[in-house]
Amino acid sequence: MMKLLFIGDVVGRPGREIIGERLQRLRNELGLDFVIANGENAAAGAGLTGAVAQTMLDAGVDALTLGDHVWDQKGFETEIARFERICRPANLPAKCPGRDHLILEKNGFRLAVFTVLGRQYLGMKSECPFLASDRLIGQLAGQADAVFVEIHAEATSEKQALGWYLDGRAAAVVGTHTHVPTADASVLPKGTAFLCDAGMTGSYLSVLGRLIDPVVAKFLDGMPRRFPVAEGDVRLSGVVIEYDPAAKRAIRCELLTVRKAAG
Ligand SMILES: [Fe+2]
Ligand SMILES: [Fe+2]
Repeated sequence: MMKLLFIGDVVGRPGREIIGERLQRLRNELGLDFVIANGENAAAGAGLTGAVAQTMLDAGVDALTLGDHVWDQKGFETEIARFERICRPANLPAKCPGRDHLILEKNGFRLAVFTVLGRQYLGMKSECPFLASDRLIGQLAGQADAVFVEIHAEATSEKQALGWYLDGRAAAVVGTHTHVPTADASVLPKGTAFLCDAGMTGSYLSVLGRLIDPVVAKFLDGMPRRFPVAEGDVRLSGVVIEYDPAAKRAIRCELLTVRKAAG
């Protein structure tokens, strides 16, 4: 049995710290073979840097994915190429820097990983996530034993539709971007683990990981202002998936919430 933890969008230092404090123990306790995390908000809440990525890889994350905030940190567009365990969204224009997928290996089992951006209410220049998934899954045939697909999207309809579209072809389709964990973890009929949103790893005393007051104020007056990363009620949110390589299907998909120890 192959066991995977996917960690939802890591927001700023509080998100990175709970990974540093808890991940190694989780790896041992749960017997995890692979740990993947979305790092699109890991650097000060927006984007990723090489240094920040390295702290998460050192803390026990095997691979980092990204989303619409992929290029928010200046210079990351040149740094990304030297990280073999980081991939940018696969359906960005082909000329964008960075890998469009990764292949992780454990005890001879090869897990391919890629992220596609949704196109509903998301302003990135990107190719159709459905056709991009088709293309990559086709390309990965023979190179990987299972495929993990992250759908980084705003609309739950687009996420669910992709889950059904890839049922039986992907080991899992897991949503990110909305930062709110959803209560729909399941294994679809043809064996694909599915969850609309893995939630956020960061402060839940917040609006999507940022301090509440400036966000509320922006909704009231529309004026530009900074949105500092919040620090209260820090949780690690993700999904644990078990996959049976012999049956070639997921057998378990459960939301995981870990709260930071008090004090
Ligand atoms: Fe995010
Ligand atoms: Fe996002």
